[in-house]
Amino acid sequence: MRKLFITGNWKMNKTATEAVQLVSALVKKVEGLSDKIDIAVCPPFTTLDRISTILKGSGVSLGAQNLSDKASGAYTGEISAAMLLDLGVKYVIIGHSERRQYYGETDELISKKAKFALGAGLLPIVCIGETLQEREAGKMSNVITTQFKGSLAGLTAEDMLKTTIAYEPVWAIGTGKTASPDQAQEVHALIRKLLVDTFGKAVADKVIVQYGGSVKADNAKELMAKPDIDGALVGGASLDAEGFSALIKNSIG
Ligand code: 13P
Repeated sequence: MRKLFITGNWKMNKTATEAVQLVSALVKKVEGLSDKIDIAVCPPFTTLDRISTILKGSGVSLGAQNLSDKASGAYTGEISAAMLLDLGVKYVIIGHSERRQYYGETDELISKKAKFALGAGLLPIVCIGETLQEREAGKMSNVITTQFKGSLAGLTAEDMLKTTIAYEPVWAIGTGKTASPDQAQEVHALIRKLLVDTFGKAVADKVIVQYGGSVKADNAKELMAKPDIDGALVGGASLDAEGFSALIKNSIG
């Protein structure tokens, strides 16, 4: 039985002052739930230092939204794995569709970042998902298979056990239009099969596959009830302590 894992991806929202307020409220609302569910927040880089202090001993883990594929040096504007680890970061989102779409990140770069993160001791959350155009053209399976193979290329079975996959259909992100539980399960089952074929059943059975795309407090329960959906990567609904804690509680309730 896989333990559910819910992650809040705050994207480019919240100043450090706002972030402190949000996470302080969240920690109180989800106190004592960490036996039943794994919870993480991925706030902006500029808030990680302050948030890290608040999260200590809370049962809520800290994640980042991206990292460099380089260790250090003359890479203006980049953030290294060592910098994240130094602030108590445990997870890192890699290959979010917004990074792919707006910043040209390729499967090749994403697999490089995933390997880099793992080598440094961070746990990657690797995102894959098709666009509406691709889905309507009947290409969903091909796109998911290509992104899975490309983004996880070179990972060993041991690496995969430390890695979370997030299935985020691009058409459901920030649109209020979530995939139905059946639509999401269909893709999650495909991802599980790819995991079995690539890493073997024993590994595939343990890997957490999150769903992301307009997950809210009122649709979390039916999504989480599906056999291959093991959690959620939540954008908009993670920006408010009340709504996010309700989403977390509904996921286990
Ligand atoms: P929304 O929950 O706002 O649709 O965003 C999903 C997402 O992209 C999480 O990474």
